[in-house]
Amino acid sequence: MRLRGLTVTDWRNAARAEVDADARLVVLHGENAQGKTNLLEAVWLLATLRSFREGRASRLIREGAAEARITGELLGQDGPRRLEWRRQPDSRELRIDGQLIHQLGPWFAQLRAVLFCPEHTQIVRGDPEARRAFLDRAAFTARPAHLELVTDYGRVLKQKAALLRERRADPDQLATWDAELVRLGAKLAVRRQQVLDELEGPFAEAHGAIVGAGPAPRLELRGVGAAARDEAEVAGRFAELLARAAPEERRRAQPLCGPHRDDLLLHLEGRDARRFASQGQARALVLALKLAEVEAARRRGQRPLFLLDDLTSELDRGRMERLVRRLDTLPGQVWITTTDPAWLGPLPGEDTALVRVSGGVATRGPAPSRPSGGPLVYEPTSA
Ligand SMILES: Nc1ncnc2c1ncn2[C@@H]1O[C@H](COP(=O)(O)OP(=O)(O)O)[C@@H](O)[C@H]1O
Ligand SMILES: [Mg+2]
Repeated sequence: MRLRGLTVTDWRNAARAEVDADARLVVLHGENAQGKTNLLEAVWLLATLRSFREGRASRLIREGAAEARITGELLGQDGPRRLEWRRQPDSRELRIDGQLIHQLGPWFAQLRAVLFCPEHTQIVRGDPEARRAFLDRAAFTARPAHLELVTDYGRVLKQKAALLRERRADPDQLATWDAELVRLGAKLAVRRQQVLDELEGPFAEAHGAIVGAGPAPRLELRGVGAAARDEAEVAGRFAELLARAAPEERRRAQPLCGPHRDDLLLHLEGRDARRFASQGQARALVLALKLAEVEAARRRGQRPLFLLDDLTSELDRGRMERLVRRLDTLPGQVWITTTDPAWLGPLPGEDTALVRVSGGVATRGPAPSRPSGGPLVYEPTSA
């Protein structure tokens, strides 16, 4: 899967930027605050219809403009497609090959992407919420219908929480919400476990590829959704837990158990990575998780884009070189933003687009030349 061209109009800081991206590896480079991440964000938005940075939809539109527009020329599994996204402060328009799209299913079927950005070390070191979000995002990338399940579960949970806050909650109504929670929660847990099962092998392998030798890290789901491979079994377990927690839930006026409290444990060298991983280890773990998502997708017959934001000084030289070599073996297109491509080490010259981003304008430069043997030149021009 390849995005051959990306055009943004009145998007973030860009009045108009056209990226000629017809290459396997696209490197967006330039000084800080020029709009590199903005362009990557546009690609992510085409794939997911969301931004990966906080901010209201109206912040996506260039200041002073009335409408933002993103167009992607996609070469997908079904041939070329033109994806168009338009945003006005309170409306959105989607088109595929010029045809208005009202259902999200057909849209999400066009383009899949996996994203890495520096903040994602939160997946290793942050709150359980970041890990659940990772799992749900990975499950969405695998099967976009997961989004609906997450939304439905969240809605029911909210309704139950509101009811509990009323203190004198109607027990029948509460039982109705609990039954819905059990039904949706069991599905949710099984899908998450399925994603984990698909990630496990590729994760250990990708981690080894980045850090070199060493014991393989492990993934484990904790909570009501632990080892959830059978929906009926999880539903039973969840219903029992809810029954036991009911008095406490009423006393504290909040829902206390369910997959919304589950956590994903990352074991590194036998220890809980959340507490023991260094910044560098956390980075390698997260990159391995993301690479594993891409690999798991390949095994399902998909070839998602892999987007890496700000891949600059985050890895040491050996790891960066190994990562870039690994990226060169991926089935889909790879996009990287960096302040200086020299940080990346040698790039595969033949099918790489170097795109300079300055003041929201993108200019494609000559392809890098592959160093012919000899030591790697590694002299960043800016830190
Ligand atoms: N809606 C907007 N209108 C105008 N400028 C914006 C808007 N949203 C973000 N920007 C600007 O975009 C710039 C940041 O671009 P970014 O892509 O994060 O830079 P970088 O090249 O460092 O990745 C900032 O200067 C920010 O103020
Ligand atoms: Mg940036």
